[in-house]
Amino acid sequence: MISKGPSYFIAGALAGVLLATVGFTWFVRGLNTPGAAGGAGHVVLKLAHGLDQQHPVHLAMEVFAQRVAEKSAGALQIEIIPNGQLGSETECLEQVQHGALAMTKVSAAPLESFIPEFAVFGMPYLFRSEQHNWDVLDGPIGRELLLKGESAGLRGLCYYDAGARSFYTVDKPILKPDDLKGLKIRVQESPTSMEMVEALGGSPTPISFGELYTALQQKMVVGAENNPPSFYSNRHFEVCKHYSLDEHARVPDILMISPRVWDQLPPPMQAWLQEAADESADYQRQIWREQTEEVLAAVVDKGVAIHRPDQAAFAAKAAPMLAKYDGTPLGDLIRRIKEVP
Ligand code: GCU
Repeated sequence: MISKGPSYFIAGALAGVLLATVGFTWFVRGLNTPGAAGGAGHVVLKLAHGLDQQHPVHLAMEVFAQRVAEKSAGALQIEIIPNGQLGSETECLEQVQHGALAMTKVSAAPLESFIPEFAVFGMPYLFRSEQHNWDVLDGPIGRELLLKGESAGLRGLCYYDAGARSFYTVDKPILKPDDLKGLKIRVQESPTSMEMVEALGGSPTPISFGELYTALQQKMVVGAENNPPSFYSNRHFEVCKHYSLDEHARVPDILMISPRVWDQLPPPMQAWLQEAADESADYQRQIWREQTEEVLAAVVDKGVAIHRPDQAAFAAKAAPMLAKYDGTPLGDLIRRIKEVP
């Protein structure tokens, strides 16, 4: 269950004291970045992302925004800009870095070009299970990674569940790694995702999520890989009629804030943001599994064949890719993750 924040009344009193203490005009001007704007008695932080508004990760961000508004009695507000309206995830990350945008939600995959450690999530079959994945994200490694990007202008607030990624294709099912041979598969803008598809035998093509539907329709690529809610909410099932649950990677979503904005917020506001992020992450984990099952049933109704291939065959084919990193900093991180019981 989501814990209740301070009552509206207490939050209001606290926000009033806070604004009186720092001086509201100073405070708004003091947020020296175009990504954060002030209005009559409140501060608005823009949060852009690439998902559809039905997606469970978007729903979690709505809970985040609502909790922030409640905790601060309206003094701090989050304006969500969905559907890639402000550009691809890489472009949003750049805007956060430069202070043009206060917050973004991205997949860990494009983050690796900004914070190299995030490449670890692209390693195929690194996690033994969903539980292993959460034990890592909730433990010291996950917390350490959230703060790794501060010097790169990106501070992580929380992880959202993005389940496991699997291949979907226009007309030819992927039942074994050899079926990927010669197939042009869309990947995220991430070198590790490219390496992963190559390791499994396919031909990777990086395309932003917003452009993928058209790319599939025009057969610029004949397949892609993602979790069920994303396959569903962006209607890729209209073009791809085979979904093979090989579950090759668990790449989390991450809510990020510009350290320039964060550092200028008074401690109570930082605490409200962090609490609201944690509460929204709890909520999202509850709805993820349910929604994953629902959308898998829904795509079957729309004529998609779901396949459950032997994952061990894919893991064996991908193993040399992980071994290649032995003795490197990324190899150490892979080892530490494997050692988490
Ligand atoms: C997931 C993830 C998105 C990402 C997408 C992709 O849906 O939640 O943040 O953009 O994968 O494959 O690009």
